[in-house]
Amino acid sequence: MVENGNVKSVSVSSAEGPRTTRGTGPRPFLKWAGGKSQAFQELRQFFPNLKDGQTYFEPFLGGGAVYFGLSPKSAVLSDLNKSLVFTYQAVKDHVEGLIAALGRLPPPASEKDYYTARTRFNRLAARLSTLDSSQIVTFSALFIWLNHLCYNGLYRVNKKGGFNVPYGFYRNPTIYSADSLRVASEALRSARVMASDYESALEGAGRGDLAYLDPPYDPVSETAKFTSYTSSGFDLTQQERLSRVVHELVDRGCKVVLSNSPSDRIKELYRGYRFERVAVPRAINCVGSRRSAVEELVVIA
Ligand SMILES: C[S@@+](CC[C@H](N)C(=O)[O-])C[C@H]1O[C@@H](n2cnc3c(N)ncnc32)[C@H](O)[C@@H]1O
Repeated sequence: MVENGNVKSVSVSSAEGPRTTRGTGPRPFLKWAGGKSQAFQELRQFFPNLKDGQTYFEPFLGGGAVYFGLSPKSAVLSDLNKSLVFTYQAVKDHVEGLIAALGRLPPPASEKDYYTARTRFNRLAARLSTLDSSQIVTFSALFIWLNHLCYNGLYRVNKKGGFNVPYGFYRNPTIYSADSLRVASEALRSARVMASDYESALEGAGRGDLAYLDPPYDPVSETAKFTSYTSSGFDLTQQERLSRVVHELVDRGCKVVLSNSPSDRIKELYRGYRFERVAVPRAINCVGSRRSAVEELVVIA
């Protein structure tokens, strides 16, 4: 991995890509580290069906594989990553403008194009809350474009919040499918999407609702550490805070499904709830070419 200079921690895991071309249902339009596209078929058995009036909450949204897979009628979706959430909002509200903006970006060609686009993206990101809707569309097109061309599809920022993932050197990268973006946009129309810490995003979750929680994982080892999706990280104190939020949700009658690593600390934090395990294919080296199945814990409360 390069560019360690100004970085809080470094990923050793590659991001999972979207499956944009198969089927007609909504699918992730981004690659995301820890993405659940490949695990979804195994995970879906743990989710109860929602009735009318019950809402699905996914406050660690990332690529949204579980949300798109379940396609609930009513959803509250959120993530701490503002750039990611602005991009979801652009897919939801301005999909045709976004497709046009993606069409104006260079075809995946040179490393030079990539770094020029990354600089442009970071300039817009620095004044995100002041952008008008056409600038947000440009920003979101850059987000999707960089996401598919950067190293391993990672989203990593430096201490100042600047996106600093290097060029990925893919031979034939697929950046977007206009049809998939339109299908995702249609699905998102019935969802509320917001940039928020998970705790406040879950304030409205109550009896009969369902929350899927997929936080940055508790590392099973030092080399498995990947906690810098955002510049704030997600350490053990955060895992403890999350477990308190889960207990509160359960007390309020909300059903919870949570993914995490099967570490002793996590099993202790969720002692008393039902535990299941799923095998998830993951890259096991920094090049992303060697793959193996990693066991993950599913907590059902
Ligand atoms: C494991 S990823 C989620 C992956 C997602 N399930 C998917 O299929 O792509 C964890 C996400 O949590 C977000 N995150 C980290 N800390 C957060 C916090 N305090 N509140 C809300 N989201 C947070 C990160 O930005 C990241 O997108």
